[in-house]
Amino acid sequence: MLTRAAVMYETEKPRPYAGSQPLVIEEIELDGPGEGEVLVEMAGAGLCHSDLSTINGSIARPVPRHLGLPTPPPVILGHEASGIVREVGPGVRDLKPDDHVVFSFVPMCGHCHFCSVGRPVLCKEGGKANLAGTLLRNTIRFHRKDGGPVLHYLGAAAFSQYTVAAQESLVKIEKDIPLDKAALFGCAIITGVGAVVNTARVNPGESVVIFGLGGVGLSAVMGAKLAGAYPIIVVDTQPAKFELAKRLGADHTINALETDPVKAVKSLSGGGTDFAFEAVGNAKVMAQAYESTMRGGKTVCIGVAPPSQQFSIAAASITYMEKTIMGSFMGSAVPRRDIPRLISLYMNGKLPVDELVSQYLPLEEINTGFDRLAEGATVRQIIKF
Ligand SMILES: NC(=O)c1ccc[n+]([C@@H]2O[C@H](COP(=O)([O-])OP(=O)(O)OC[C@H]3O[C@@H](n4cnc5c(N)ncnc54)[C@H](O)[C@@H]3O)[C@@H](O)[C@H]2O)c1
Ligand SMILES: [Zn+2]
Ligand SMILES: [Zn+2]
Repeated sequence: MLTRAAVMYETEKPRPYAGSQPLVIEEIELDGPGEGEVLVEMAGAGLCHSDLSTINGSIARPVPRHLGLPTPPPVILGHEASGIVREVGPGVRDLKPDDHVVFSFVPMCGHCHFCSVGRPVLCKEGGKANLAGTLLRNTIRFHRKDGGPVLHYLGAAAFSQYTVAAQESLVKIEKDIPLDKAALFGCAIITGVGAVVNTARVNPGESVVIFGLGGVGLSAVMGAKLAGAYPIIVVDTQPAKFELAKRLGADHTINALETDPVKAVKSLSGGGTDFAFEAVGNAKVMAQAYESTMRGGKTVCIGVAPPSQQFSIAAASITYMEKTIMGSFMGSAVPRRDIPRLISLYMNGKLPVDELVSQYLPLEEINTGFDRLAEGATVRQIIKF
């Protein structure tokens, strides 16, 4: 079949993207679902900073090792998504046409070491497929009209009217939640809330600081509020984000362009917080987060820094202050457990996810949407199909 998609042929095009058009809207071929695969009609797809970091080249794009380098092949981005099952391939048992689904941006094979120990976001097979830009069973379902392959970003390739995904990339959800909005549970919400409740396991009354107030950081604010953290301190370089952060539960705001955020956090928290979350994607900010914690404090790195960046800390401090640095990928989630739970919290008024939606836009305006994200002017924009 043919599907209308936003295809990225090249990275590092200059801004504004509305002019350089790194994502080209065109009709491309999509094969039907093979063994264990599902055809999904997309409903919503959020614009996440991880997509932007792939467009601007600051994190590595999926590298098709088996296809041979160095020519970067075309890829369809988008990984925070929701849709309706339209067709299932042979061997798909748990999904059927008309089911509503949210994408898990790591496919969960179910039988590797990490899936077996209950850490499916670290799935070995899923990670390998994501790096290669293929589906879990090594297939590529998108083709240009000349037959050349177009890769799948994180098993989702969500910036397309239709996509084919492995059943292991999909989480079935109830039909009561507005489907386009459900997309946010696949990345921003599961990542931000999960970092607080799964990775850090914050207790009531423990203090937190959250660096970065995009979709991910503001979800961490919501998670901290839900966990009963106090105080909740937030740091950003865009003061325009502070009002929303306060509505979601922040007690204190710090503008990192005006003051040294480490000093400010220490003075607001009596010497440092129990937890610091980095949701920017910058090694310097990760080091600031570490310095902001008190003795025994835990630093949770959520942002994806460019692979070339490193950060250093006083080595002795980690020992005599018993500090911990933790990584949090996809909120250390079990997607089939956590996505339905988080949706239920939202549907019952306990998680104000609507506050994250800055605007809806058609696929045709996707490049302008990434300009707005790059300027830091929005939280979450959702492509509505
Ligand atoms: N770990 C995961 O599984 C996962 C999932 C999704 C996104 N991410 C990563 O999380 C990060 C945030 O994603 P997002 O979509 O929320 O991004 P975003 O662009 O919406 O938000 C980033 C925020 O950081 C702020 N910021 C920039 N520099 C800062 C500084 N020096 N100090 C404090 N704040 C600063 C910006 O003003 C902005 O508000 C990205 O690196 C993204 O790739 C990780
Ligand atoms: Zn994301
Ligand atoms: Zn696995």
